[in-house]
Amino acid sequence: MRSLTVNGYSAKWLGKQFPWVYPKEVVKGAVKAGEWATVREGAGRVLGTGVLDDGWIACRVFRHGDGPVDEAWIHGLLDRSAALRDVVVGPDTDAYRLVNAENDGLPGIRIDWWGHHATIVLDSPSLAVLLPWITGWLEANRSPRGVHLAYRQDPRDERRGALHPEPGVLAGFAPTGDVKVRERGITYGVRPHEGPDVGLYTDMREVRAFLEPTWAGTSVLNTFAYTGAFSVSAAMNGAAETVSVDLSAKYLERAEQNFVFNELSLDTHDFLVEDTFKALDRFRRQGRMFDRIVLDPPSWSHGPEGMWSAKKDMPRLVAAAARVTEPGGWILACSNQGDLSPRDFRGLVLSGLERAGRPAQSLQVASQGPDYPALSTFPEGRYLKVTLWRLL
Ligand SMILES: C[S@@+](CC[C@H](N)C(=O)[O-])C[C@H]1O[C@@H](n2cnc3c(N)ncnc32)[C@H](O)[C@@H]1O
Repeated sequence: MRSLTVNGYSAKWLGKQFPWVYPKEVVKGAVKAGEWATVREGAGRVLGTGVLDDGWIACRVFRHGDGPVDEAWIHGLLDRSAALRDVVVGPDTDAYRLVNAENDGLPGIRIDWWGHHATIVLDSPSLAVLLPWITGWLEANRSPRGVHLAYRQDPRDERRGALHPEPGVLAGFAPTGDVKVRERGITYGVRPHEGPDVGLYTDMREVRAFLEPTWAGTSVLNTFAYTGAFSVSAAMNGAAETVSVDLSAKYLERAEQNFVFNELSLDTHDFLVEDTFKALDRFRRQGRMFDRIVLDPPSWSHGPEGMWSAKKDMPRLVAAAARVTEPGGWILACSNQGDLSPRDFRGLVLSGLERAGRPAQSLQVASQGPDYPALSTFPEGRYLKVTLWRLL
């Protein structure tokens, strides 16, 4: 086992259970990616044990204080994660986050459960050292048909190139078609072997849940629709019409398939392969208005209109949506950008409403559901911001 000595600043944060050591905080010790290290303060006291990495994080700590990190310790963390999901995930739902990385004591490791398959998403290949223990636990406790490996590299991570081990099947087999999963009784097709984005964002489940009683008879515009989860949920709960807009034809084909999986007629449900801003502008020129608009954009994306960034473009997006929202209509505005505070996000939405000259009532402020717990000592944990507005 290697030894890593960190500066006083890192020691203070590790003492508060913070899960990372940054490279500039390392005082002594070689950082060999994928190897275990005991983390110490200058005087030699053990602060924790973690996996070393050569990216923007130098060490991810899996146990604070003294004590071994072995299979039993990791299995204990997985048992604790599973115990939460057993309580908070309803019986008609089999798609959920089983392990939420830092927030469940397993930094850099997300595990999503998809019916009978598991997708393990690593922030770095260095964490592969834990895969045998994790796969063993999944096989013993969840009997998956397939365990799949994917990576989610942080934009702050400058390493690029081939990933070892390669993404793919770790155990069992890859499904041949879509795996049908259930969220609150609604069927969605997902591809657990094509992670990290497999076709359903389960962090929005509680948001879709509280909207269920509010869709009846409404016209819905779902922008950045992806595979149409909001549209399907709206349609299943009585929306009169839905329009799903996304730049990707492939995602919208899957959205349409999700309607078919739920035996919904496609007569009053449209799918537009288009840039959201262009669609909103066209609706404004046509005088077409909606009762409900969903704005759930990515944090960043490249579109025909150039680079989209939630921080820069949210006010423009909200203003464009507000101009095609019926009086009394609702806008759901969301951001999954971890480094944008709820207060700043609210400010961006308010400035958009003001720009469109549409005063509004705030109806709901929400975040990710309880299968995405946020650790009190990890400020980035509560990343999802969801706000619901009624335009007057
Ligand atoms: C974070 S996902 C949205 C998730 C979705 N709202 C849901 O609940 O499943 C981002 C989606 O935005 C789409 N997208 C990105 N830029 C876009 C743009 N300018 N106009 C329309 N869609 C865009 C992507 O293709 C992707 O499907």
